[in-house]
Amino acid sequence: MSDFTPLPHRQSVQNPATHPELTPELLQSLKTKTDAALALLRRIASAYAPAVFANSLGAEDMVLTDLILNNKLPLGIFSLDTGRLPTETYDLMAATEKHYNTRFAVFYPERAALENFVHTNGINAFYESVALRQTCCRIRKVEPLARALAGNKAWITGMRAAQSGTRQNLAVQTRDAEHGLEKFNPLLAWSEQEVWAYIRKHDVPYNPLHDQFYPSIGCAPCTRSLSIGEDIRAGRWWWENPETRECGLHVKQRLAASTNTP
Ligand code: ADX
Ligand code: SF4
Repeated sequence: MSDFTPLPHRQSVQNPATHPELTPELLQSLKTKTDAALALLRRIASAYAPAVFANSLGAEDMVLTDLILNNKLPLGIFSLDTGRLPTETYDLMAATEKHYNTRFAVFYPERAALENFVHTNGINAFYESVALRQTCCRIRKVEPLARALAGNKAWITGMRAAQSGTRQNLAVQTRDAEHGLEKFNPLLAWSEQEVWAYIRKHDVPYNPLHDQFYPSIGCAPCTRSLSIGEDIRAGRWWWENPETRECGLHVKQRLAASTNTP
């Protein structure tokens, strides 16, 4: 017989951001915002067909996924698989497809460009310079995004104004001149509390990393958890200056100088 004594279970800390109190006021504002988002999605589906939703499987995107699929809106849904997403995100993708009995379109980086980049610069080159990080994002996200958007009249994102200083001046509808189509942000005015109230109220599947203080989830090596009080996007490319911390999906990259790229 062993005298091994199991350790007591580690006390897990409930993340207040992902468990808002569902007060009557919060539920009322959620209803108003949900009605508006649904009306906008319906308008996009009818006036801008074919239109697609870019689904990162983050909390906001799970709200949009639920609205689109539960209401059977004729909108395509695609995800960009960079090859470096957290295991939890792949598991959520599989669970979400099962939950809604659907299959998402998944776009991948162009093989030769990625192999060449990794062969030349190493598997984790993104930590070495802003230029290499931007090139990695360009190969793994930005180029596949262009292919995912081709042939569509509009695309939809889950961006919110309150997510970061760089998103405060976004509009619900803009012209995406670079890709040549309209771009919609139906959750622009939503608060983080409203997003989580929707997820709780409708029992929407979500990434367990959010409960572990990851409000914004991208690729695994470029995302870390936050301490309470930190900015929502402080865990993305945290080793860089705040002004370069965009991957180029929404803000055209101001390319960093001197790069060792293919
Ligand atoms: S990012 O520019 O820093 O990567 P963020 O993670 O906040 O963006 O996501 C903003 C929006 O970009 C998401 O709501 C989603 O519409 C789109 N997006 C980001 N990553 C992906 C992805 N891997 N696949 C599809 N869409 C994505
Ligand atoms: Fe590469 Fe990181 Fe950008 Fe993902 S987030 S594409 S791993 S640099």
